[in-house]
Amino acid sequence: MCGIVGYIGYRQAQPVLLNCLSKLEYRGYDSCGIAVNNGHLRGFKDAVRVEALKAELPSLEGSLGIGHTRWATHGKPTAINAHPHFDCTGKVAVVHNGIISNFEELRLHLLKEGHTFVSDTDTEVIPHLIEKYYQGDPIGAFQTALTRLEGSFAIAVLFEKYDKLLVSRRESPLVVGIGDNETVIASDVPALLEYVDNVIYLEDGDTAVISKDGVLIEQNGAAADRTVHHVNWDRSKVEKNGYDHFLIKEIHEQPDVIKDSLSGFFGSQEEEKDSLIDSNLSGLTMLGCGTSYNACLVGKYIFEELLGIPVRVESASEFMQRGRIISSPVVIGLTQSGETADVLLSLKRLKKPQVKILVITNVPGSTASRIADQVIYTAAGPEMSVAASKSYMAQLIELFKMAFTSKLLDTATRERLLKEFRSLNVIVQRVLETEREIAECANILARSSTAFYVGRGINYPTALEGALKLKEISYIHAEGYAAGELKHGPLALLDEKTPVVALVTPEEVYGSMVSTVKEIKARGSPVIALADERDDSIASIADFVIKLPHTSGIFAPVVNVVALQLLAYYAAKFRGCPIDFPRNLAKSVTVV
Ligand code: F6R
Repeated sequence: MCGIVGYIGYRQAQPVLLNCLSKLEYRGYDSCGIAVNNGHLRGFKDAVRVEALKAELPSLEGSLGIGHTRWATHGKPTAINAHPHFDCTGKVAVVHNGIISNFEELRLHLLKEGHTFVSDTDTEVIPHLIEKYYQGDPIGAFQTALTRLEGSFAIAVLFEKYDKLLVSRRESPLVVGIGDNETVIASDVPALLEYVDNVIYLEDGDTAVISKDGVLIEQNGAAADRTVHHVNWDRSKVEKNGYDHFLIKEIHEQPDVIKDSLSGFFGSQEEEKDSLIDSNLSGLTMLGCGTSYNACLVGKYIFEELLGIPVRVESASEFMQRGRIISSPVVIGLTQSGETADVLLSLKRLKKPQVKILVITNVPGSTASRIADQVIYTAAGPEMSVAASKSYMAQLIELFKMAFTSKLLDTATRERLLKEFRSLNVIVQRVLETEREIAECANILARSSTAFYVGRGINYPTALEGALKLKEISYIHAEGYAAGELKHGPLALLDEKTPVVALVTPEEVYGSMVSTVKEIKARGSPVIALADERDDSIASIADFVIKLPHTSGIFAPVVNVVALQLLAYYAAKFRGCPIDFPRNLAKSVTVV
């Protein structure tokens, strides 16, 4: 769960590497470092953020280099454990993302052979292995070393007095950006966007030799042809553009995300489509992690309510641990990054001729997209904040689109809902306009050490998502709960110091939510209610009311989640938290 970068071209490598690394800090930011090769190999690293490293760095001349931003897994976040790592001679420099699972065994062998280790990392075995096998042929030494490694990796290597960049990947992501007379490699596309529009997603087991003249990719000793993808992401999306944080910028981008997701949808949804969720489907399994898992839970409600298909939702981190795998004929994997290890392993286990895998992901060419039989790309654009917001919105919109294009939906319901669906961007914009009132409510949360979020039916997953957002960015303990479950235990925790955020939206569950709010008030907890703008009675029961635009119940997740994202953002801001880079978290969780 680190970010790696590399550069070869006509520019000075140092500023390019630092710039790319700053765009990868969402993958980890415990420590960072770079190495530049100018005939002579020089490295510099420290247990600081990229911005601080920039200030510390001497000028390392050269137009070939590698860099790394770390999220510690093996060894503490110290300067010594930061990458690049070197061999005994200082002539081989390596950056690595992933985990070398047999590093202890390799390290013991190498120690016996006289190699000296300076760090506690698994990565350090790589430069020493390369050193061991080096007999004048850098590529041969690199490839032999790779055969000894077990586990997951994306690796970039520099050799002193060698004017090429060597890279390889197995399970961890690695993208090669092809520019005019320059090549930039990185763990993820946003890091490259300033320099290139065309990218190659390396496949598992690929090795690439990158020189000023181009890129040669090999798999099992044979040349491999890989598709060059054009990335049409807007570059301004990887800058904060005047906002204090990426998160608040991305929350505000959601009306546009909805518009982009719906572009071309109206007018085409009546057409006959080859949909995986038509034709006698007996059941559906949906899986994801974290926020994507919560989107799956919303999907369950949408598909069961609108289409009558039984849907099982699995947390991928649990599912991949199962002994016996029982699958539905269609599996939908949701993953913003397309690189979440738990999701990838689950999908790989499920991949069988009789199972169709549909992946909904935000990253073109990501590993999940390549496992899938069918892919839907969300239109969120690059999401830079570690905490997901607009990608969740884009996932919800794609799930609705799937339901609305299914032949299982009756025409009257479709027509009624499509009218609202068309204007969801405007509705979400109106939620954003209540930002100031939401910020005032956030003050109450910011002063608490714990909070509950409760909802029923389709709003239950939103309660989970609201609580997840609050925990991860404000460090306030929060529990998302099905409102009806409160009385089966957690009610014991409620008191005047425990605010409860209640999702009191109209339609079927309204009456039971009002009862829940009364139950909570009887225990003295302050209640922040998210309610429909037409609801005049909830204000007499709840302490604070956030009034939201009216929608049909099925669209409540879209409206409510925006309010909860803002609530979490402002609570975190009042507490002075590093919102875009929550402690201990990284955006792509590429380890299990
Ligand atoms: C929370 C968050 C995480 C991710 C989870 C899955 O804000 O961002 O919980 O949702 O790590 O990531 P993806 O969707 O990339 O598989």
